[in-house]
Amino acid sequence: MRVGVLTGGGDCPGLNAVIRAVVRRGVQGYDFEFVGFRDGWRGPLEGTTSELGVAEVRGILPRGGTILGSSRTNPFQEEGGVERIKANLAQLGVDALVAIGGEDTLGVATRLHDLGVNVVGVPKTIDNDLSATDFTFGFDTAVNIAMEAIDRLHTTAESHHRVLVVEVMGRHAGWIALHAGIAGGANVVLIPEQPFDIDKVCEYVENRFKKQYAPIVVVSEGAVPVEGGGMSLLTGQKDAFGHVRLGGIGDRLAGEIEQRTGKEARAVVLGHVQRGGTPTAFDRWLATRFGLHAIAAVADGDFGKMMALRGTRIERVPLIDGTGELKLVDPGEYAEAAVFFGN
Ligand code: F6P
Repeated sequence: MRVGVLTGGGDCPGLNAVIRAVVRRGVQGYDFEFVGFRDGWRGPLEGTTSELGVAEVRGILPRGGTILGSSRTNPFQEEGGVERIKANLAQLGVDALVAIGGEDTLGVATRLHDLGVNVVGVPKTIDNDLSATDFTFGFDTAVNIAMEAIDRLHTTAESHHRVLVVEVMGRHAGWIALHAGIAGGANVVLIPEQPFDIDKVCEYVENRFKKQYAPIVVVSEGAVPVEGGGMSLLTGQKDAFGHVRLGGIGDRLAGEIEQRTGKEARAVVLGHVQRGGTPTAFDRWLATRFGLHAIAAVADGDFGKMMALRGTRIERVPLIDGTGELKLVDPGEYAEAAVFFGN
């Protein structure tokens, strides 16, 4: 069998670990041949490929990014996109695809499977917002990077008696803010799922100063104040999946805090640093296991499935279960973090 592999959407640590496991197991266990598709769905759409064999995946386990490249190409937005993909797969003799991606990339995989393309999905995203799986790989690395930044910001905030606002990624789901905020001992955590009251945030800030400590406020890029203004956008321009570029809530909030409390406040935007570099041990473990199970699903002809972590087991679930609806932060879990707000 000839299997195509692609990585789509925002990159994240662990993509190469999946590719390595898929190829190593596929070649050794099933005698498969592989085709690497370049830059997400653009690869099958334009027929752009790269060599993908055991030699190409040697040494890539700890490497961040993706050796295949990525993009946010949406074939359903392209004239004759589906037909072009089918024609390219046929011409290259590709029998099945392993698509590694988040809601958008796997959303395309879901629709293509319904249209007769043999595809198996592997869930990735630093945002951890795919349903049906306990975790996506990349998330743990992003949380650790954000936690380390928060640890460092505590000491500089204390020295200057300042408020430090840390803006982390998370468009619709506040998982990174919540986990990094708890792990880093943040004094306020603001997430997209729960609009926040700026006056209440200022109360927490003042309370923390009263205890002779400097406050750290962690805010997801998609968080919104109840008093209005909506999400903070870097640009209103939409990508092929209809997403705008978020950013700016950290600065906006630091400005409001400074104005309302009279305390000096600074914002730090962690941005793409959260997606770069080497994956944690957990992400390498998860990505590797996802890869092994994905290629086993291909060998079984069990298409239209996504790999999912359930407890410590990897299970196969219908792609639509992962992509149909985003996995948002549970209010009960958020309430646990709130115990520490302002303290
Ligand atoms: O989807 C993952 C993610 O990192 C989001 O958290 C963030 O909003 C977005 O990608 C940023 O995308 P880009 O790299 O295209 O700016």
